[in-house]
Amino acid sequence: MKSASLVLALVLGIEATAAVAADAHSHHAAPTEDRRAVLALSETERAMILEEMRLFLVGVEKLTGALAREDMAAVATEARELGVKMTHDVPPALREKLPQAFRQLGFTVHRDFDALALDAESMKDPRHSLQQLSATLQKCVSCHAGYQIRPQPLAAAH
Ligand code: HEC
Repeated sequence: MKSASLVLALVLGIEATAAVAADAHSHHAAPTEDRRAVLALSETERAMILEEMRLFLVGVEKLTGALAREDMAAVATEARELGVKMTHDVPPALREKLPQAFRQLGFTVHRDFDALALDAESMKDPRHSLQQLSATLQKCVSCHAGYQIRPQPLAAAH
């Protein structure tokens, strides 16, 4: 029983890997149209989101630098910059245009950084922080895989 389920797990694992490989391959062979869900935003709203995104990237850069130095106080500081406190000034009009799943994913990323900051302070374990960062980066990846922004021309708003 035990070995049978192990074999099953192996087979499933291989199938999953093959599916991912096939997917990656098809992307490579034929660059298709962008099928990600569209967020139809104004130019200003788009700029606002992209600015937050670049802050994410800058923060992750600083965070990895601090981790490489094993400076856990700096890890906590940099992580907290990306935490929930970063979210408070999203205009209501923009909030309403964002699907709930999108907002939730964004929020969990901010919450993750707060948790990373707390653990960095209390545990001071760079490897643990790195694992948390890796898990959070997977959320960046999965949101980017699912959504794109299409800026709407101003005239369309009338
Ligand atoms: C809830 C969804 C979501 C999450 C989570 C998310 N992003 Fe993004 N990000 C987007 C979208 C949507 C775009 C625009 C993509 C497009 O239109 O092709 C974007 C664009 C970007 C860009 C390009 C910015 C520019 O100026 O063009 C960067 C860099 C980026 N994200 C970094 C990150 C990092 C780092 C994380 C994680 C710490 C992250 N993002 C998490 C949705 C997300």
